Amino acid sequence: MRIHHVGVAVDDLDAAIQLYTTIFGAELTHRASNEKDGLEAAFLRAGDAEVELLKPLREDTPVGKFLTKRGPGLHHIAVAVPDIDQAMADARAAGLELIDAEPRMGMHGTRIAFVHPKSVGGVLTEFVET
Ligand code: CO
Repeated sequence: MRIHHVGVAVDDLDAAIQLYTTIFGAELTHRASNEKDGLEAAFLRAGDAEVELLKPLREDTPVGKFLTKRGPGLHHIAVAVPDIDQAMADARAAGLELIDAEPRMGMHGTRIAFVHPKSVGGVLTEFVET
């Protein structure tokens, strides 16, 4: 298993970037908005993995609802998989509930899919094809 990134929900993206780059020495590699998901994200390299900082553009989005309900904090972990179709088939065969019925394009330009937190010990889990 390889952790691809950890997703953290924040309400102040600039402050979070500042924290991670100056205190933890992470390197900001990419920042992008996704209107469809109502999300602004910043990606920071942290050794072999990344931190994905997530700020909702609207309250009525998955991350917006998460922030309203739980406040800033750990949102998901992402696991690198070589073949996302196989990973999803294996997860389904094991009885896990997938949020995404089909893989979709992530903000990195690779295919992703989310597994429901109730299937994986309460932690929203993302497959990232690498
Ligand atoms: Co992610």
